[in-house]
Amino acid sequence: MLSNAGIEYAVEARQLTKRYGDLVAVNCIDFGIVPGEIFGFLGPNGAGKTTTVKMIYAAVPITAGTLTVFGWDVPSCPRKIKSILGVCPQEINLDPDFSVYKNLVVYSRYFGIDSSRARSRAEELIDFFQLGEKRDQKIENLSGGLKKRLLIVRALVNDPKLLILDEPTTGLDPQARHQIWDKIRELRRSGTTVILTTHYMEEASALCDRLVIMDEGRIIERGAPAELISRYIGRDVIEIEDFDDGVEEHFAAAGLKYERYSDKLYIYAECGRESLPSVTKIADTGNIILRQATLEDVFLKLTGRQLRE
Ligand SMILES: Nc1ncnc2c1ncn2[C@@H]1O[C@H](COP(=O)(O)OP(=O)(O)OP(=O)(O)O)[C@@H](O)[C@H]1O
Ligand SMILES: [Mg+2]
Repeated sequence: MLSNAGIEYAVEARQLTKRYGDLVAVNCIDFGIVPGEIFGFLGPNGAGKTTTVKMIYAAVPITAGTLTVFGWDVPSCPRKIKSILGVCPQEINLDPDFSVYKNLVVYSRYFGIDSSRARSRAEELIDFFQLGEKRDQKIENLSGGLKKRLLIVRALVNDPKLLILDEPTTGLDPQARHQIWDKIRELRRSGTTVILTTHYMEEASALCDRLVIMDEGRIIERGAPAELISRYIGRDVIEIEDFDDGVEEHFAAAGLKYERYSDKLYIYAECGRESLPSVTKIADTGNIILRQATLEDVFLKLTGRQLRE
């Protein structure tokens, strides 16, 4: 089906549903991913992100609804679809007995890539991700972060048209995370469509063109990161700690929009500098911080602060 702009979607879901027995893991969701964009799935633990991406890469069957990848129906053409996909799963599933290099070469066989092409592609990827020093190390001897990086590298052996990254940077140090962000942006520049799930709001803001926020199997909001921040929060947030009792009433009386979570107050403002004098006057004994609104503010506002799962 075509998007509003008349482009064929890279991935399109209509009323997509997944049930595990009585549990509805994904509940009638609709989305369309435009070719060449980085599209994010955010949501608390158990929201249904992994289940959704697993349906896209045909690892779990859909229960109801429709799902297409580049126009192909996923349940009818899983092999065709898998051939153009790269997948970095949430769980590390590398072959522990093989080296870094051999993991890449062996994985290429699943795509029917001939062995000389597989070897040169493995070398190319090892170079691209600066893994030369680790080329011949066995997986069991690698650090957790390195295994995670290799999982992303492995997803690229078949030069995928659509790359699915399920929490690709969980457990990575800041340097490795930034390296991965650069590579993902580079892939987008070369026309690859990328699906990303993440719990790092900074990552989603830095990378995603558009995203959906899921909770309990449903999509509760969608949009570009900046658009969501301005819709739900505004430009600035003033955080107040160690305030005296009664300040909330004064804020309400002064017409300031605020929320309280545990022992902190958050004031959402279009221009924090302008609101700061009146806030300081009311909460004169508190610790006051003015900062830019972030996607994390939106996430917490929409999904609440209680723990899941
Ligand atoms: N194979 C399975 N059998 C039964 N229930 C499952 C199975 N896989 C996932 N679930 C359940 O489906 C729901 C959604 O899980 P899913 O892994 O998709 O969440 P998620 O958003 O990826 O969470 P996280 O952020 O923790 O990775 C959860 O309640 C989970 O327990
Ligand atoms: Mg998951």
